[in-house]
Amino acid sequence: MEDLLKRIKSCKRCVVLTGAGVSAESGVPTFRGKEGLWGKFRPEELATMDAFMANSSIVWEWYNWRRELLGKVQPNPGHFAMSEMEQLFDSFCLITQNVDSLHQAAGSKEVLELHGNILRNKCADCSSPFLDEGDIDPDAIPKCKKCGGKIRPDVVWFGELLNEQVINSAFEESEQADIFFSVGTSALVHPAASLPVAAKRHGAILVEINVEPTPISEMADFCFNLPSGQFLPDMVANLKSERVADQ
Ligand code: OAD
Ligand code: ZN
Repeated sequence: MEDLLKRIKSCKRCVVLTGAGVSAESGVPTFRGKEGLWGKFRPEELATMDAFMANSSIVWEWYNWRRELLGKVQPNPGHFAMSEMEQLFDSFCLITQNVDSLHQAAGSKEVLELHGNILRNKCADCSSPFLDEGDIDPDAIPKCKKCGGKIRPDVVWFGELLNEQVINSAFEESEQADIFFSVGTSALVHPAASLPVAAKRHGAILVEINVEPTPISEMADFCFNLPSGQFLPDMVANLKSERVADQ
């Protein structure tokens, strides 16, 4: 930690990329690993356009279950620490693969959501946002008011492209970063997993926080094998007390 704190002092532009691991301490299941969603469910049956076309009700039941689960959880100390990090750098950018809105709930203002947001809906045909509030009935899925297409969750499914503007901004920010934190992500899913690599190639200090090693661990300048909800509040407290001491 000491070495990292020294190096952070000279960093003006900070980028943080998060994955499902940052929400694990809130009680949201991750995707991979023994207890992960992809250990229990088959992504090709639930998280692809083909699956939605073949059996929209089952897909909606699964998303309703995940929404219900999210209704019961709160941001954890890791989320709050990341929202405080906004104040500690001249420029700060938070990029997430999570669809759970927990960063926003913790006070993070601008979040680049690479994989969409599970609480939003859109048309499966024309992508128009569907803003009606209320639950989606899997047996009576609402239709798009513009084109009559079926309404689906506004998340990125396997085989789909990310929102171009969002991913372009994420690369731009990452390439300009002085320091890049990869937090709670298995760093296996691209293009998100290319962001830390791009940052490092453009000269950023790469820091990984994950309870397990990942494919980017070897390239990282610092690796902390700790839960993000433990490591980040500690780091932020240290940064804040250094600031006070410097003033
Ligand atoms: P994964 O489930 O692949 O990885 C979660 C990572 O978090 C693992 O590397 C764990 O070791 C780590 N982890 C678990 N608990 C942690 C904790 N308390 N603190 C720090 N790290 C912890 O989730 P993602 O990397 O987010 O895509 O997965 C990427 C994408 O794959 C997801 O956005 C989703 C999925 O398919 C879409 O839905 C498009
Ligand atoms: Zn439509």
